Amino acid sequence: MKERLQELQQEAIVKIDDSKDLKALNDVRVAYLGKKGPITEVLRGMGKLSAEERPVMGALANEVREAIASKIEEKQAALEAEEINRKLASETIDVTLPGRPVKVGTHHPLTSVIEEVEDLFLGMGYEVAEGPEVEQDYYNFEALNLPKGHPARDMQDTFYITEETLLRTHTSTVQARVMNGNEGKGPIKIICPGKVYRRDDDDATHSHQFMQIEGLVVDENIRMSDLKGTLEVFVKKMFGAEREIRLRPSFFPFTEPSVEVDVSCAKCGGKGCNVCKQTGWIEILGAGMVHPNVLEMAGYDSKKYRGFAFGIGVERIAMLKHGVDDIRHFYTNDARFLNQFKQV
Ligand code: DAH
Repeated sequence: MKERLQELQQEAIVKIDDSKDLKALNDVRVAYLGKKGPITEVLRGMGKLSAEERPVMGALANEVREAIASKIEEKQAALEAEEINRKLASETIDVTLPGRPVKVGTHHPLTSVIEEVEDLFLGMGYEVAEGPEVEQDYYNFEALNLPKGHPARDMQDTFYITEETLLRTHTSTVQARVMNGNEGKGPIKIICPGKVYRRDDDDATHSHQFMQIEGLVVDENIRMSDLKGTLEVFVKKMFGAEREIRLRPSFFPFTEPSVEVDVSCAKCGGKGCNVCKQTGWIEILGAGMVHPNVLEMAGYDSKKYRGFAFGIGVERIAMLKHGVDDIRHFYTNDARFLNQFKQV
């Protein structure tokens, strides 16, 4: 019996050593130390032993069990450590590697121009006003001194929705709305950015939908020189301190006198080149003194109040600022084009 127990111990120790993983080791534990294992089996024969031999054999059996159990424990610790090391090796993270870059969006160049203009005018005490894109004929034309049948309506080819509603052709509508809302009282200082629509065929310089920023100042002592000074500040901010402006007489039904405003060419500095068509000047906006009829229709006393107004083409400003030669680039959303305007 003694030999059998020692044999079992040897056997178990070899199997424990051979165990490749925790599952195999557990199988050995169950096989040798379980109730149905060979050691229990051997101990069943204890009855045949003499009274002196029994405790000796019992003690030996316990020793064998303990030897096997402690060997299993040792092996288990080794296997567990191995497992952890394997995991650590396979899950190594190099914390010094650069992270995956996050894709950062960018402002659309037209948004940037609008924000820059808004910033400038807010700094001069203006407020930003907005109006609807689906507009009444009244605010788009009539309130701006363009009664039905007026030939100047043809200057702006219009998308009509019904006889009385249309897609606004300019942001001058917001002038009319704000003046009307004020019921003839108090000063106004606003800029109004927004989309406008015209029935034009799209080409490099025309788009059926584009953007404008309207400006309107109404007060008691407003003069043409105020308009000129304001536009000078605007042009120098947008195109550089060396730029000059030039006012040329023009016609708009809602202003009298009306002017077209040119900026000295940034490319040639005024000498004449292909950008300014050899004139040294580039047209950038329309402006003028608010027509007395427009003030009166909105309820303002035109003897007491005067105003100036201007309309800036946002795309035109962006094209000049960035040297873009086709207005359609702003609307085709080609990422290669837009990514050039990333702010860093
Ligand atoms: N509304 C005009 C247009 O779209 C631009 C314009 C000219 C606006 C003169 C004005 C202005 O406020 O005074 O062609």
